[in-house]
Amino acid sequence: MKKILINFAHPARSRSLINNALRSAIEGLENVTLNDLYAHYPDFLIDVKREQALCEEHDVIIFQHPFYWYSTPAIMKEWLDLVLQHGWGFGSHGNALAGKLFLQALTAGGDDSTYQKYGYNEFTISELTSPMRATAKLCKMTWLPPFAVLGIHRGLRQEKVSAYAEDYRQAVIALRDETLDLELVKQSPYLNSNLSTAIRRPV
Ligand SMILES: Cc1cc2nc3c(=O)[nH]c(=O)nc-3n(C[C@H](O)[C@H](O)[C@H](O)COP(=O)(O)O)c2cc1C
Repeated sequence: MKKILINFAHPARSRSLINNALRSAIEGLENVTLNDLYAHYPDFLIDVKREQALCEEHDVIIFQHPFYWYSTPAIMKEWLDLVLQHGWGFGSHGNALAGKLFLQALTAGGDDSTYQKYGYNEFTISELTSPMRATAKLCKMTWLPPFAVLGIHRGLRQEKVSAYAEDYRQAVIALRDETLDLELVKQSPYLNSNLSTAIRRPV
């Protein structure tokens, strides 16, 4: 079993619908550690040694967050700036993250049609998340396309929220149990584009 670290960032959990639901779906799973960045560091004073030790202890690192201004909430950028030190996470002697899996799990207000070249937002999610992809590459990690929940709005029906949460749970379990076809998911824009096909079932 692989060990999964979920770095979770939501600055207003009391107003969260979907991130709370996704989070509830994976909380308590065996070999899955939830690391709530805003809860640990309300003053943004990130304990770099603690964060690096957590990364070292896990095989898969997931960054779960709402899409804010086409990016992450501020604490996640602070985390990247401080934790990914030269000589630890990157550079010729920085191999602490090498070979680990990197996954962004994001939720966004705009739906998929808005994240197209000729759509409202003019750029795709792949393009907008390319700095994270480049970061993963620099740290010699294996990047996976984001688990994306798009078109989030207040009126989202509870059945849809529950379905996304169940997909997230299945994706995390498959990463943990190594039953996700990584080569297949890399061909899709989102990790959850065709999840049921990508998860190998025991025969
Ligand atoms: C400060 C802020 C910035 C946002 N920026 C974007 C954005 O760039 N693109 C987008 O599609 N949605 C954006 N949204 C909408 C959020 O992504 C959406 O409300 C969130 O994913 C819903 O998740 P939650 O229910 O867990 O809060 C933004 C929301 C806030 C509060």
